[in-house]
Amino acid sequence: MGVKVGFFDSGVGGLSILRAFQSICPEAETEYYGDSKHCPYGNRPREEIVALSEACVKRLLKSGCSIIVVACNTATAAAIDYLRAKYPDVPFVGLEPAIKPAALETKSGIVAVLATAGTFGGRLYRETKDRFAKDVTVIATVADEFVTEVERLKGREVGELKMRERARLLDVVRAKIEPLVRAGADRIVLGCTHFPTLKPLIEEVAGPGVKVIDPSMAVARQAKRIYDKF
Ligand code: DGL
Repeated sequence: MGVKVGFFDSGVGGLSILRAFQSICPEAETEYYGDSKHCPYGNRPREEIVALSEACVKRLLKSGCSIIVVACNTATAAAIDYLRAKYPDVPFVGLEPAIKPAALETKSGIVAVLATAGTFGGRLYRETKDRFAKDVTVIATVADEFVTEVERLKGREVGELKMRERARLLDVVRAKIEPLVRAGADRIVLGCTHFPTLKPLIEEVAGPGVKVIDPSMAVARQAKRIYDKF
């Protein structure tokens, strides 16, 4: 029997990671669990996110997954240490905001990170920032409204939207992104797996001088490395 890779997120966000993984590892059997009933995770207390994440993991293990991708920055921040300690035989792949490439590449010295409050409150964010972004200004921006909007799309891409729906969404994105560009940010890090869905709109608002950094493919590659070795 082949190795099954399980992915979970608070909702549809982790599909961005699943799609990236499937594009480089089409032969792998995968299962996705989106906990939309409890979405969003972003503002919940840490212990609650840990409990919800463990419930997702148990479900995926029960259905035969041997590798688990925590396809959610918030769940990674709150629960990955706990999960690794509790299930030492299960390889877990998690997400952390891609501050490193942003800090290395920025020319303005200002990078913006979009994530949930839960992610910004976690050790991983703090450590990554202290380690790689000592000499740059990091604008940490909570973008919970993006999570709500992407949940509402139920897995549809921006390209599939009717004109009026797209225009409304563009206004929501503009309200968040324009101040970051005005503040001089030339790198915007997508620190939540819901946000790659909005990347075309974020790029449209931010303009050609700003690079939007999406870590989905890097995470997918890490999952593939583990899958190939398993
Ligand atoms: N997709 C999740 C993440 O990557 C967060 C969304 C939520 O708040 O539930 O952080």
